[in-house]
Amino acid sequence: MRKKVTIVGAGATGGSMVEILQAKGYADIVVVDIIEGLPQGKALDQAHAGPLVGSDARIIGTNDWKDTAGSDVVVITSGSPRKPGMSREDLVNINANIVRDVAAKAVKHSPDTIIVEFANPMDAMCHVAKDASKLPRNRIIGQGGMLDSTRFRTFLGWEVGASVKDVDAYVLGGHTDATMVPIVSHAFIGGIPLRQLLPKDRIDAIVERTRKAGTEIVGLLGTSAWYSPAWGTIEMVESILLDRKRILPCSIFLEGEYGIKGSFVGVLAQLGAGGLEKVIEVELEPDEVAGLKKAADAVLELVGLIKK
Ligand code: 2OP
Repeated sequence: MRKKVTIVGAGATGGSMVEILQAKGYADIVVVDIIEGLPQGKALDQAHAGPLVGSDARIIGTNDWKDTAGSDVVVITSGSPRKPGMSREDLVNINANIVRDVAAKAVKHSPDTIIVEFANPMDAMCHVAKDASKLPRNRIIGQGGMLDSTRFRTFLGWEVGASVKDVDAYVLGGHTDATMVPIVSHAFIGGIPLRQLLPKDRIDAIVERTRKAGTEIVGLLGTSAWYSPAWGTIEMVESILLDRKRILPCSIFLEGEYGIKGSFVGVLAQLGAGGLEKVIEVELEPDEVAGLKKAADAVLELVGLIKK
């Protein structure tokens, strides 16, 4: 019996998630959207590739939430992406109503589901989804750190001329240009501490490019990225569905970790069948902890701007 994943939103990111998940083969997929024909068409098109992808995963596109019933994981991608000149924070009221609506529908049809929240401003939207779904913190997890970390790893690998596979680095804090915290103190390339391989000015330049990487894409494409966000999200979904217990950078509702309570912040989280299994409160440098606290304050300030 395959697992079941619902992707909310048949846009570019949702479509990429369907493609990646189909190739994995361990889950049937429902993609739900309000636009008639869009999820149905994308699902059918992707399903046609089944024989070539070598996957028997069933893919259903629908406008009817009943089709999502019994989903093990629901990924919320629905919401407006950025346009040039916009920050993620600018989307807060546009997307809050959408996320509030779909989070409530998700748990209505799948009471035991685990929500992975993607829509921006992601950390603030996690608060909206948590309030609307009434889920405990272990079943409402935000995706931003995975994306920021893969960008950080890519830039570091390019700079050093090493395989990006050999770069072990992650970004915590908020998923906004101003509140991201690339963790330099725990970055390694081939097991070698980053600070032994690159001078401070180059590390600082890469930290800065990582912070602004999403904005760089929006400037080039005229809209938000979707390929790498989709891959980052599915890494989290897979750890949950297959109970892999991976330790990944995720936005989690903190309950005292790092001295932070009541705010979604990117931290190292162990993900398994129960969703968040535990927060790994890794020892960070003082400025890195300060960055997490700054991120926590910023997301609560943003949540305060949401019109109920
Ligand atoms: C990004 O950074 C979409 O927020 C996402 O590209």
